[in-house]
Formats: sequence, C-alpha cells, structure tokens
Amino acid sequence: MRLGIVAAVIVIAGVAVVVARTGAQADLIPYTDSDAVALGATLYDEHCAACHGANLEGEPNWRERDADGYLPAPPHDVNGHTWHHPDRQLFEITKYGTEAMVGGNYRSNMGGFGEVLTDDEILAVLAYIKSTWPPRVIERHDAMNAQVGN
Ligand code: HEC
Repeated sequence: MRLGIVAAVIVIAGVAVVVARTGAQADLIPYTDSDAVALGATLYDEHCAACHGANLEGEPNWRERDADGYLPAPPHDVNGHTWHHPDRQLFEITKYGTEAMVGGNYRSNMGGFGEVLTDDEILAVLAYIKSTWPPRVIERHDAMNAQVGN
C-alpha cells in the first residue's frame, strides 16, 4: 500500500519535471530581450556576416551547389528558410554545424560554433536574426515552436 503511494508520487513528480522542462524551452531564442539582441548583432557581424551577409542577405545563388557540391550560405532574412526551422534546430545547426546535423557523408561549409561561442551567445545571435523578421513571420515561427514544444 505504502509502496503504491510512493510510486504514484514519483510518477507525478516525473510528469511535473517534464512539463516544467517543456515550458522552459518554449522560448529558447530570446528575441524580445534587447540586451541579447544587441549582443547578438555584434556577434553576428564578427562570426556570421562574412558568409550570411551584413544584411542577412546570404550569398548569390544560394540554392545552387557549387562545383564541389557545397551549398552557398543562405539568407537569414525572410527570403531564406532559417525561419522554417524551430528554435532548437537553429540552435543545434549553429552549435554543431550542418554536417553533424544532416549526418552521413553530407559536406557543408556551415561549421559548428560550439567551440567559439557559448550557448547563450549562440542564442543571442539567433535572437538578433529573429528580431529582424517582420511580425507575421515571427508569429508563424512562434506558432511552430509552440507546436513542436521547443
Ligand atoms: C564559412 C561560412 C559561414 C559562416 C561564417 C557561417 N555560416 Fe551558417 N551557413 C553556411 C552555409 C554554407 C550554410 C548552408 C549549409 C548547408 O545547407 O549545407 C549555412 C547554414 C546555416 C543555417 C541553416 C539555415 C537554413 O535555412 O537551413 C543556420 C541557422 C546558420 N547557418 C547560422 C549561422 C550563424 C548563426 C553563424 C554565425 C555564428 C553562421 N551561420 C556562420 C555558411 C556559414
């Protein structure tokens, strides 16, 4: 009898932890935090702009692979598909790089920044990127995050 109660308490505690975690992840990218966005803008210029463009415009013909099979850097503005990925995926692509995310023999010039930037800095860069999107795109991105429980 006692054991049953203890087990039930453990199960309930477990559910509470899962719910709390999911809640904490709902807004992984702090795009409404002006300090994070300002830091992210500086980090973007230093670490991302060389490939993704000073105005997030990406490289020309970004949908076509080069002679060696590599894709150019895509835009991070509304014309690209950065906003089609939920927060966690954007974080993981930036931290680990596209090769690690796609797996297999996939080759990519998008290296991971896990050795260069802290997790918070990565989130700040992504916050800057997201803060530049028009409200309707931000809304759709928020809705997608809510759907995947990110
Ligand atoms: C050396 C060039 C280079 C730099 C520097 C670089 N990227 Fe990339 N990035 C790429 C390329 C190329 C791709 C496309 C990779 C592919 O799909 O094979 C890409 C793709 C991405 C994607 C996926 C976009 C999508 O629509 O799927 C994200 C997110 C991203 N980069 C974020 C960043 C961030 C944030 C930084 C700075 C911290 C950064 N990148 C710096 C070259 C670069």
